[in-house]
Amino acid sequence: MTKQFGILIFASLAVLVGIAIYVFSGSYDIGADTPHWQVTRKVMEVVRDRSIAMRAEQIELPDLEDEQLVLKGAGQYAAMCVNCHLAPEQSDSEIRPGLYPQPPNLSEHRIDPKTAFWVVKHGLKMTGMPAWGLGHDDATIWSIVAFVIKLPGLSAEHYKDMVARAPPDEEMESMDKGDGKKPEKGEKPATGMQTEQKREHRH
Ligand code: HEC
Repeated sequence: MTKQFGILIFASLAVLVGIAIYVFSGSYDIGADTPHWQVTRKVMEVVRDRSIAMRAEQIELPDLEDEQLVLKGAGQYAAMCVNCHLAPEQSDSEIRPGLYPQPPNLSEHRIDPKTAFWVVKHGLKMTGMPAWGLGHDDATIWSIVAFVIKLPGLSAEHYKDMVARAPPDEEMESMDKGDGKKPEKGEKPATGMQTEQKREHRH
């Protein structure tokens, strides 16, 4: 019994040393143009899907049908997401083929709104999907979700029309002016979806 235990300890140590040698030797190819093994990819997908599902479950869904909300989301999507996630009838972009994993084409891929909210707000480690919640409030993220769930099935014309009718975005405007100023926070609603009122003050 004790001999077997000794062998087990020795074998575990040998494996750990082997892993350490592999890691420090630099043999692992970190390049985004070398795919994972099938099994690594599968494990990562399960980890991702379970992690998101567990966290998205508790999110409460607001009303996502409001037209102004959807239009605001269209503007946000065109400004922040389209290069990676594409628009209707757009087959690819400059950045997308080089991303690993490749972002799903959200103009074709339907997504559950709670999942979308969680992923857009928190991002996904080691994928290139940013955590937009660090710079945007929940109401803005819900507007993006409201648009993203409408996106599959839109024609290219309809997409362009919605983006053109999107209300201007304060944060982007102040960036465009290059003054680096964020919009004043005083008028920001405390909760939820009241982003439309905020805009009224500014124009
Ligand atoms: C730099 C590229 C990039 C940008 C910009 C980007 N994403 Fe992503 N996104 C990704 C990648 C990569 C993934 C992960 C794909 C994977 O895990 O297989 C992802 C995943 C997602 C998912 C999860 C899809 C699913 O089926 O699980 C959603 C939803 C999403 N992004 C929405 C957005 C929205 C909305 C925006 C804009 C606010 C955005 N993304 C901006 C690269 C990007």
